[in-house]
This record gives sequence, structure tokens and C-alpha cells, in this order.
Amino acid sequence: MAETFEPFTIRKMTVKNRIVMAPMCMYQADDDGRLNLFHFVHYATRAVGGVGLILVEATAVERRGRISSRDLGLWEDAHVDKLRELTDEIRKYNTAIGVQLAHAGRKCEAEGESIIAPTALSFSENMPVPEEMSREDIRAVAGAFRDAARRARLAGFDVVEIHGAHGYLINQFLSPLTNKRSDEYGGNLENRARFLIEVVEAVRSEWPDALPVILRVSAEDHMAEGNHPGDLAAIINRVKEKGVDMVNVSSGGVVKEAVINAYPGFQIPFAETIRKETGLPVIGGGLVTSPEMVEEIVQNGRSDLVYIGRELLRNPYFALDAIDALGADVDWPESYKRGRKALSKS
Ligand SMILES: Cc1cc2nc3c(=O)[nH]c(=O)nc-3n(C[C@H](O)[C@H](O)[C@H](O)COP(=O)(O)O)c2cc1C
Repeated sequence: MAETFEPFTIRKMTVKNRIVMAPMCMYQADDDGRLNLFHFVHYATRAVGGVGLILVEATAVERRGRISSRDLGLWEDAHVDKLRELTDEIRKYNTAIGVQLAHAGRKCEAEGESIIAPTALSFSENMPVPEEMSREDIRAVAGAFRDAARRARLAGFDVVEIHGAHGYLINQFLSPLTNKRSDEYGGNLENRARFLIEVVEAVRSEWPDALPVILRVSAEDHMAEGNHPGDLAAIINRVKEKGVDMVNVSSGGVVKEAVINAYPGFQIPFAETIRKETGLPVIGGGLVTSPEMVEEIVQNGRSDLVYIGRELLRNPYFALDAIDALGADVDWPESYKRGRKALSKS
């Protein structure tokens, strides 16, 4: 039996299969952070293509929290209506949809923004030195996550994912490589997790109990002095009772010097560790490119869901192909049935 096509329920969200579209910045918005036709085509194509859960790309909670000037945004109420149209469209295909709430911190490359981070250390020689965040800044950014969660709810998302990975602001607090603070937000693991806890509390204060919150983490900094999966598990064990329901496990991005030995499925062991040590369901992935890999990961209980990034850029119909490759008893969408290889002779 193809477990890839067994539904998965968390709080009141049911995902029809275990295939998740990884959040991927498309850099197609204008400086106003709003959705355009490109985003509708891009996300709706993957929904038609049978993905169980779409995680919309990093979406900035503040203008200065953008990665680039072309990021999507949720920093003002004017962003809600277009996102609502998108979630309405995606739901027609029985695909769940979430949005990744993000703040770039010192990795902001949007034009004309003043950059903030836990510590005044730049990411590289070519990037400006960020300003060290004051307590007021910390409160303001947690508030921006709260307001973005409220807008995400109004926009009709099924789930929000807090971007705590890839060296962006939350990750900058979590990692000892980028957090050199001497106040209660720096130093030991408990202090480094404090900002994340405040963000989770802020998001949960606006996000309905019925719906889940996902946390994306870099479980491995790929540097000896950095965080490793056990550290992230310990951090997640501190925040989970605040209302984190699932962890999306990635790695890297904190410092430029890190060397990543990437090979097919290389991050799945990190996901397994987080799953085992926190007891939370996980979304694992990274260089997963075939239905058989997804099935192996799910059947062996290594991850509950599997995210697919670049393979879905190459083939938006990955999940439809997986139905046939795994012999799952699931229909293709009515309009596409005649394209199904097994049936296309008639
Ligand atoms: C074009 C592109 C944009 C990405 N943008 C994001 C993002 O917005 N948020 C995020 O957490 N990860 C982002 N990632 C990382 C992916 O979510 C995923 O973790 C990574 O591509 C590894 O999975 P894959 O080997 O299946 O592509 C991006 C990756 C790509 C290729």
C-alpha cells in the first residue's frame, strides 16, 4: 500500500497525501509585496499537480524583514485580499495551503532598508553590518509576526509556518554562531530560544486553535561550534507547548563559511532525530526527487510528510506521476485523466 497517499490530519487540517511543496522564494512580487498572476499560475499548477500541502514562499512580516525587494509580504492589511483569492483557488483542488512567515534579519537585501539582527555581525563582506536589536525592536518584530498571523487567518490559510531556518532572523537568535548577546536573549540555549518562544506566542495569540503551526528549522549549522540536531530538539522541546504542532526540518544557511555535503536525502536523518527527540510530527526533505524516495521515508517512519522543492520546479505533476509510480488507488483530476500514461492509449 502506498502510504504516500494516506491522508494526514493535524489539529483540524487534513492533508490528502504526504507530498508537500517546499516554500520557495520566487522573487516575482513588486516592491509592494503583493501577489500577481505569476503566483496564481505557479501555485495553482502544483495544486492541479496533486500536491497535498503547498507552503507559500517566505513572506515578509515587515518591509525590513524581506530577503529581497521582490518578496511577498504580509506586513499590511492590503496584502490580504489577493492572498485570499489564492487560497480560495488552491482549495478547489483539495490541496491544503500554508504561508511561511519570515523575517530576514541580517540577510535582508531589499533596497533602502536598515538591517537588524541579534548581534552586529554582517553575513558577508558584501553585506552591511546590521544594527543590534534593542528590546523594543524585539517586541516590535514579535508584534509583526502576530499581525501577519492575523492577516494569514483572514486570507484563509490552513496553516502558518514560522521561518526559523536558513540563517534568517529567528535562526540568527538560535545559533551561537550569530548570537553573541549578553542579555537574556543570548548565551545559553534557553536564552537563545527566548525570541522564538515570543514569536510563537505572538503568532498563536492570533492563529486559531483549530489550525496548526509549523516551525521550520535548520537542524544542523554544518559548523562544529554551531547548532546540531540535538540542540534543535532541545530548543523545540522548550517551544512546543506554546503551540508548535509540526517541524519542517532543513539545515544550513547561518554562516557563509559552512560546507554542506549534500546528497540525496542527506537531511532525512536530521528529521528523524527531531521526530524522535521531540515527539512531534516532521516534514523532512532535501534532494528528494522520486516517488520511491518519498515512500521509503514515510513507510519507514523517518518523516510524516516529505517536502519537495526543486523537483517540483522541474515537474509540477510530480504527485500525479507518484500516484502511478506507486500504484496508489487515487484519481487524477478529471480534466487531466486522458493524459494519464496507463490510460492514454484509448
Ligand atoms: C528557488 C528556491 C527558493 C527557496 N526559497 C525558500 C524559502 O522561501 N523558504 C525556505 O524555507 N526555503 C526555501 N528554499 C529551500 C527549499 O524550501 C528546500 O528546503 C530546498 O530547496 C531543498 O529541497 P529540494 O532539494 O527538494 O529542492 C528555497 C529553495 C529554492 C530552490
